[in-house]
Amino acid sequence: MSQKIISAVGARPNFIKIAPLMLEFLKYPEFEHKLVHTGQHYDVNMSDYFLDDLDIPEPDYNLGVGSDTHAVQTAYIMMAFEKICVQEKPDLVIVVGDVNSTLACSLVAAKFGIKVAHVEAGLRSFDRTMPEEINRIMTDHISDILFCPTETAVSNLQAEGIIDNVFNVGDVMCDVLLQNLKRLDQQGFSLDKYQVEGDYFLATVHRAGNTDKRENLEAIIHAFSQLEHPVLLPLHPRTRKMLKKFDLFQIASQSPNLKIIDPVGYLEMLYLENNAGLIITDSGGIQKEAYLLKKPCVTLRKSTEWVETLGNGNMLAEIEIEKIKTAAQKMTKQEFSFEEAFYGKGDAAEKIGKILAAEWTSP
Ligand code: UD1
Ligand code: UDP
Repeated sequence: MSQKIISAVGARPNFIKIAPLMLEFLKYPEFEHKLVHTGQHYDVNMSDYFLDDLDIPEPDYNLGVGSDTHAVQTAYIMMAFEKICVQEKPDLVIVVGDVNSTLACSLVAAKFGIKVAHVEAGLRSFDRTMPEEINRIMTDHISDILFCPTETAVSNLQAEGIIDNVFNVGDVMCDVLLQNLKRLDQQGFSLDKYQVEGDYFLATVHRAGNTDKRENLEAIIHAFSQLEHPVLLPLHPRTRKMLKKFDLFQIASQSPNLKIIDPVGYLEMLYLENNAGLIITDSGGIQKEAYLLKKPCVTLRKSTEWVETLGNGNMLAEIEIEKIKTAAQKMTKQEFSFEEAFYGKGDAAEKIGKILAAEWTSP
């Protein structure tokens, strides 16, 4: 008998995390898989680029919820996803990561008594001012199957009393990175169009704590303008909006050291990361990609859920101009081994597929 799985995704990193699973599920004729895109991210460069780059088929449903406050966005996703659950009656809902779509869809499924599997379970930054931390905790506590990327994540769940059906499978973002790294040469990417000479730094900023406070965003922009290397900044739409709101966009775009570009697709991002002298970011996924690509990284946050990277090529920097500059200088001078396979061997999706198949064949 076939088992119906719905994977629910909505934001940029979700598309990347679901890609290796979609590929893996093709090996299981007993899985009837459907993809639901909540529409949390909707710009072409925040959504379609990733489906194209990662050969993800057109989602079966797009809920088209768009942007709003946390409560409204989460509620709209829940209302729309509930209809899908009524119509499709899935045996399992898979959610990935820690965005509002993750929490909204897991909550709907759990209340219907539909099994929920959380991929990237157990991560904790221990900073509840981050909306993602709330999403992670809530999702983990209502999930039936918890696929952890690391041993630390397993321990975090254990500390909260979540012990059953917890599996350390490695990180699906490691799978997708290893699968796609070998494709980069065929893409014809070049740095010429970016006009960044020599050893450039690649930066991304989008965390609410950094974008929504004027003094933080201003400090970040000034620090980038004063670094010893040109900084390439693929700009998240949230950050563009807030730079404009705080009258900082002109200062940022006129800084000779700072090159602002639109968000790029996954493959181009890997190319830019792979060629950068240093990565400066507040992104969860990019810190880890820096580690996997053996690139030093400065993380513009006071904590991280990817704790294994700290002291292993990644350091946290407080949001002050001099602290960011000092951290960048320090990280470009030090050597790191990046040898430990903290995030698995690129077979997380394979392990997840096997565990799910066994779950359904067991008596
Ligand atoms: C969301 C996630 C965050 C994740 C990030 C990945 C939550 C609470 N946050 O943050 O964990 O790291 O996605 O990128 O779920 N916008 C557009 N076009 C889009 C999408 C967003 O213009 O396609 C703008 C809108 O002005 C919107 C703002 O960005 O209000 C924020 O979008 P939202 O999805 O609420 O949160 P992110 O900051 O993207
Ligand atoms: N990313 C991308 N293009 C960009 C910026 C990010 O492809 O312009 C990729 C990045 O390589 C990583 C993922 O998006 O795989 C991280 O997503 P994001 O930083 O938006 O969210 P987070 O990981 O912080 O939740």
